[in-house]
Amino acid sequence: MHPFDRLTLETLRAKSCLKWTHYSALQGARDVLPLWVADMDFPPAQAIIGALEARARSGNLGYPAGYPGGEPGLQAAVAAWLDARHGWRVAESDIWPLHGVIPGLYLGVRALASSGEAVVLQPPLYPPFMAAVADTGRETQHNPLVWTGTQWAFDLDQLDALIRPHTRALVLCNPHNPTGRVFSREELAALAELVLRHRLWVISDELHSDLVYPGAQHVPFASLGDEVAERTVTLLGPTKSFNLAGLKVGFVITQNAALRKRLERLGAGLVTPPNVMAQAAARAAYTQGAGWLEDTLAYLQRNRDLVTRFVEAYLPGSAYAPPEGTYLAWLDLRGLGLGETLYERLLACGVGLSEGRHNGPGGEGFARLNFATTTTILEEALERLRGGLRLG
Ligand SMILES: Cc1ncc(COP(=O)(O)O)c(C=O)c1O
Repeated sequence: MHPFDRLTLETLRAKSCLKWTHYSALQGARDVLPLWVADMDFPPAQAIIGALEARARSGNLGYPAGYPGGEPGLQAAVAAWLDARHGWRVAESDIWPLHGVIPGLYLGVRALASSGEAVVLQPPLYPPFMAAVADTGRETQHNPLVWTGTQWAFDLDQLDALIRPHTRALVLCNPHNPTGRVFSREELAALAELVLRHRLWVISDELHSDLVYPGAQHVPFASLGDEVAERTVTLLGPTKSFNLAGLKVGFVITQNAALRKRLERLGAGLVTPPNVMAQAAARAAYTQGAGWLEDTLAYLQRNRDLVTRFVEAYLPGSAYAPPEGTYLAWLDLRGLGLGETLYERLLACGVGLSEGRHNGPGGEGFARLNFATTTTILEEALERLRGGLRLG
């Protein structure tokens, strides 16, 4: 038996985290299996817990050496990980640690486009992407992904036609939340060609890049060439792969010194380095976490295949492709014809999914299912959906 299979509903319900408290706080929604926010239900690697314990026990909780950057060894750990895992060589000094990826996204949007200039988003998307552009007073231009019949893909003709003189930047999410797409080198190279031709800047959110299943390979956008690297701000971190979102730690990588200075100026006083516990955890993850990650990926892959078999059996013909990365499945429920009532019906099934209508244009009628839970809970959730939606 896999250790994750020993996790019980009782243990998970006792957690004080957002994922497990949200639905129990809603009146009348006590027995909901929460397969929504992107946390895993699994305990992190023992090496990470050990590093956190050791740091706490040491009492060494003052401003860390290297402040306001990373503690000695942190950037080196990230650089070695990126090289070993993705074949991407990045100078340690180009890796800037901060307290999460979303602060990096807001900084990137502010640095790369001025107020009133436009930023391209490719929905469906993680909702804070939309907020980052709107909140900062930049104009949003949507270039929705298209369903080719077998997978979600960039629509480059549509993008080419969309770009105006005031279009400055494009936000890429790869691996893609919520569809689970891991874009191929060819797809990314074609996007890069267009980006360079229009002299756009790119913010590439690669937070899910370590969660990729056999058959797909993550290609860092900035690794496509020097010119591309010059125009790219990459965002990544250990929080999704190693299940540490509550620790708040991420990295901004840019190989353009002028751009890095601009980002730092915009973040001055607002953006902090990750706290020392988060730094200790990140270093442990990148130096000692590979074995845990491989094992977790194998577990997740089995869950992913379960979801795929469910879709094939009960939602045939829907726009679904098995996620190539992430632990998120993007379910096309438009065929049920439930319109506005879809999300109430899902909740009435006793399953908490993320509502696709919040993922931007094209998200209506879809729901995102987080399958990073025990196989038993996943099976129960799928059974509830089958019964409650009268599938099959
Ligand atoms: C693509 C993507 N970017 C960013 C985030 C959030 O990152 P952080 O918690 O480090 O701000 C998430 C969380 O799910 C995500 O999926």
